[in-house]
Amino acid sequence: MSKKQEQVSVFIMGKKFMVPAASTIMSALEYSGFQLKRGVGCREGFCGACATVYRLKDDFKIRTGLACQTVVQEGMLIAQIPFVPAVKPVYDISKLEPTITIFKQLYPETFRCLGCNTCSKACPQDIRVMDYINAVERGDLAKAAELSYDCIRCGMCALRCPAEIGQFNVAILAQRLYGSCLAPKSKEMIERVEQIRKGQFNEEMAAIKATDKAALKKMYYERDIEPGESV
Ligand code: SF4
Ligand code: SF4
Ligand code: FES
Repeated sequence: MSKKQEQVSVFIMGKKFMVPAASTIMSALEYSGFQLKRGVGCREGFCGACATVYRLKDDFKIRTGLACQTVVQEGMLIAQIPFVPAVKPVYDISKLEPTITIFKQLYPETFRCLGCNTCSKACPQDIRVMDYINAVERGDLAKAAELSYDCIRCGMCALRCPAEIGQFNVAILAQRLYGSCLAPKSKEMIERVEQIRKGQFNEEMAAIKATDKAALKKMYYERDIEPGESV
């Protein structure tokens, strides 16, 4: 029997199902008749919507993974979580300074980090989560923004954190402050924004909006591509 046809048993919310061995947790859920309305988005590992906790057979550890990327295993016990609750204060980014004080006010729990590194181990993106939290604690927002760049906000780091830090929200603030206050400004971008404001591209934009989908696709794939840019 080929790998594709092999079946394994999994337990979804405690109930046993037989599913193809090559399934991801997400396709196993659907194969078993579950209709996913929450906890599903891009299906490609980018949106972070499908955080799942699971255990492996005869293994005590609670593991975390993206349902759309994690392949099932014989005896796997699966539970989906609709979202990960995390502190998320409201702020006006234009009124904030890129200082440690802001994080102490908005996310004081950040400074309770125990250095256990559980968050990094839970991250499906292999992000050094503890390191970006520690960078925030030092006030190094450039480092925090750089290290957290690939975060997809799945929440699995927060789920496992004994200090109850919502790392992904802390990361967003670091990225926003770095981007708005600290990152070097691009001269070209400032010029282009000015041109847009003056309406220099209005006509071209109107023509694009009036173009049908097939023609738009053709334009897209036939555009000038700079070396190193992917299609
Ligand atoms: S840093 Fe946290 S929220 Fe971001 S991808 Fe990693 S586990 Fe998910
Ligand atoms: S899991 Fe929480 S306490 Fe542990 S290193 Fe990560 S942020 Fe710090
Ligand atoms: S559905 Fe988007 S990351 Fe899994």
